[in-house]
Amino acid sequence: MQLFHNPASPFCRKVDVLLHEAGQFEAVEPIAAGGHPTAPAGEANMPVSHNPLGKIPTLLRPDGPAIYDSNVICRYLDDRFDAGLFPAQRLWETLTLEATADGIMEAAVLMVYETRSRPEDARSTDWVDAQWLKVTRALDTIEERWMSHLHGRLDMGQIAVGCALGYLDFRHPDRDWRGPHVALAAWYEKFSSRPSMTATRPPAA
Ligand code: BEZ
Repeated sequence: MQLFHNPASPFCRKVDVLLHEAGQFEAVEPIAAGGHPTAPAGEANMPVSHNPLGKIPTLLRPDGPAIYDSNVICRYLDDRFDAGLFPAQRLWETLTLEATADGIMEAAVLMVYETRSRPEDARSTDWVDAQWLKVTRALDTIEERWMSHLHGRLDMGQIAVGCALGYLDFRHPDRDWRGPHVALAAWYEKFSSRPSMTATRPPAA
């Protein structure tokens, strides 16, 4: 299998962490994907022929056409490798936690793109602040609703939260998400030392 991939992407990291936890990291070959929302790098390294949205991660699998997005890929790999990361008895909570973490990643990535793709005088501080508000609201909700879930047996919701927090540290280190989220920070301290997390740390910025 091959995966269009960028080691800086928290969505790709979800897939990588799952593969490590399943002991199957070697089963998927990463293909470096370049490009940018407003300047795709071209067919060679943006998967537009496999994914019309031109987004990563996109997985080329042996048993059918390409699949995307990270949620679909993670469900597929979990099923294929029998990893047990979507436990039936708490499936809806796990999926909603994963979706909440994905929303944090989306908002945090959009903040980065605002700086990267627009000239300074075209950037909107209000828009960036609105994205950060989504992040902080989602972190509040995770602390209110999911701390006991986070401390339970490993599942995809936990992996997604770990990757989202890792991305905040990576791209928004000045925002201090830990200050108002002490319980989540304590959980992340331990979670981020799992071998699957240390092996998939994003590259130095
Ligand atoms: C980043 O450099 O932050 C990034 C790269 C690819 C996808 C998402 C984020």
